[in-house]
Amino acid sequence: MLLAPQPTSAHPLRLVVCFLLLCGAGVLASPIITAGCPDRCVCDDQFVVQCAGQHLTTFPVNLPLATRQLIISNNRISELPPLALNYLSDLVYLDCSNNTLTEISESTFGNLRKLAYLDLSFNTLHRIEDRTFGPLASLVMLRMTDNPGLSDIHPDAFLENEALQVLDVSRNNLTALNITSLIALPTLRSVGLSGNPWSCQCDNEDLCLWVHLETFKFQDEGQTVCGSPADMQGRRLSEVGIQLRTLCHQSLDSLDYLFFVVIGFVIFAAGTVSAWLMGVVMVLYERYIKKKDDQLELENEEEGIEMDNASRGRTDRGNRSLKTSHTV
Ligand SMILES: *[C@@H]1O[C@H](CO)[C@@H](O)[C@H](O)[C@H]1NC(C)=O
Ligand SMILES: *[C@@H]1O[C@H](CO)[C@@H](O)[C@H](O)[C@H]1NC(C)=O
Ligand SMILES: *[C@@H]1O[C@H](CO)[C@@H](O)[C@H](O)[C@H]1NC(C)=O
Repeated sequence: MLLAPQPTSAHPLRLVVCFLLLCGAGVLASPIITAGCPDRCVCDDQFVVQCAGQHLTTFPVNLPLATRQLIISNNRISELPPLALNYLSDLVYLDCSNNTLTEISESTFGNLRKLAYLDLSFNTLHRIEDRTFGPLASLVMLRMTDNPGLSDIHPDAFLENEALQVLDVSRNNLTALNITSLIALPTLRSVGLSGNPWSCQCDNEDLCLWVHLETFKFQDEGQTVCGSPADMQGRRLSEVGIQLRTLCHQSLDSLDYLFFVVIGFVIFAAGTVSAWLMGVVMVLYERYIKKKDDQLELENEEEGIEMDNASRGRTDRGNRSLKTSHTV
């Protein structure tokens, strides 16, 4: 066989040959694929590769391409190489717990569309970026507990994991979690949040309210407590939810009140000033009108007699024309 005894296993040509064999031979290819098994691992005919507790420091090489379950827990593996992982497109179950993984890149899980179970617990992860779990469309259960330095999970980290049912991020170093994308997941039924130093301030109000409203969803809800501020330490998130809601929105309301008081004063002052101005204008106008009237009266008295004569003449003429129109 081509695949069996060659020691230079990382040669790219070998991967190509392997790939061609897989595509060409179809079902017949299965025994060939399982024929390769990484050092210190046990591979069975159900495509399960078991490498737990083997003091591995690197990701195993020479993995069967049809691997469905890969267990590499309890080792000292510090990196998941994207290239090697993404050949395993049939992978359904991946247990990486209890290693020394510090980061996971965007491309690590790029091709694992069938992956349903992922365990990253007991590692040394620090943050989760937005695209890390994006390609995992079939992911049902994600365990990511006991990473003592994990303090930051991007708001959109679970945005595309539509199949997610169980999420466990217990015993990390999380203070806040943006739940916008989590509450939109249609089948999410269990969330583990306990053992984190949660912030019970307005920045985390939504999470606290969520725990309060849907207590049934949360594992170890009794251990899901505030780490800060000092006066809230040790209180359950489910207890402080309503309190935070009132507290955080009250402070907004008192600002609103201040705004209304200031606006009210401005309107009052503007009203007073404009009333005073109107008063002044009215007085001036009245005086002006009175002056004009006095002038007119004087002029009228002078022209009075003249106008009397003229109007009498006009009415006589009008009466005469009326009479003639009637007789026609
Ligand atoms: C982690 O793995 C080591 C062996 O590498 C083992 O001794 C230890 O008990 C494991 N810890 C957990 C929490 O499973
Ligand atoms: C947890 O986060 C805080 C800051 O939020 C940091 O001071 C502390 O060192 C972190 N703990 C660990 C174990 O990394
Ligand atoms: C949560 O994340 C969404 C999307 O990134 C953002 O629009 C929203 O403002 C965030 N909420 C909080 C409370 O930070």
